[in-house]
Amino acid sequence: MNKITIAIDGFSSTGKSTIAKQLAKHLVYVYVDTGAMYRSVALYALQNGFISADHFNQEALILQLPKIELSFKFNGDLGYAEVYLNGINVEKKIRTLEVSSFVSQIATVSEVRKKLVEQQQKMGEDKGVVMDGRDIGTIVFPNAELKLFMVASAETRAERRYKELITRGDEVKYEAVLKNVTDRDYLDTTRKDSPLIKAIDAIEIDNSLLSIEQQFDKVLELAKKAI
Ligand code: C5P
Repeated sequence: MNKITIAIDGFSSTGKSTIAKQLAKHLVYVYVDTGAMYRSVALYALQNGFISADHFNQEALILQLPKIELSFKFNGDLGYAEVYLNGINVEKKIRTLEVSSFVSQIATVSEVRKKLVEQQQKMGEDKGVVMDGRDIGTIVFPNAELKLFMVASAETRAERRYKELITRGDEVKYEAVLKNVTDRDYLDTTRKDSPLIKAIDAIEIDNSLLSIEQQFDKVLELAKKAI
């Protein structure tokens, strides 16, 4: 069967990864979570003291970029690939509210974007890939055969993320999660390099009122038409 590239973009916590994982599993495609890559670079910057609440040493981070090696390894139990930063599995560490609150600043740095976009394009060069992020349909794969743009209200998204974090055992307040979601929306849509925008040929999916099953049925239909 003909293999295509599926690009899924959208605001934070719109359920991009849920639908991307379902699609990849169903179509036996590779799933690439590009947010995990930006989060891993943010974790590296935090671990090395390049970023904190009151400073961001961009130059130091840029100089260290060649030393940052990101890779994905498929975890059969989970059914998707986990991200490794310099050989260490950081899948859990990158999902904290702390990393979430610095990652969008890291993602404004053009040198960081260039490095990650190159790696993403390599990972998808043979097609048969479902990639989610903010610039997949616009920058990484502008020729993707299917482009989806996910939206949902900020409150719906914050509630989802809050429940996820609480289930993991993180002590967070709903208000802090909502603030993080709206702060990241702002940074992601207003940055100079590759801002989050809907590609003109992307299909918008508002899943505020859709169940996970309804969303999957709708998207699978679109994928089948595109293949
Ligand atoms: O998708 P996720 O919420 O994990 O992404 C974390 C952050 O990484 C986003 O808020 C955004 O700042 C950045 N990002 C990006 N481009 C991508 C994927 C993520 O700028 N392709």
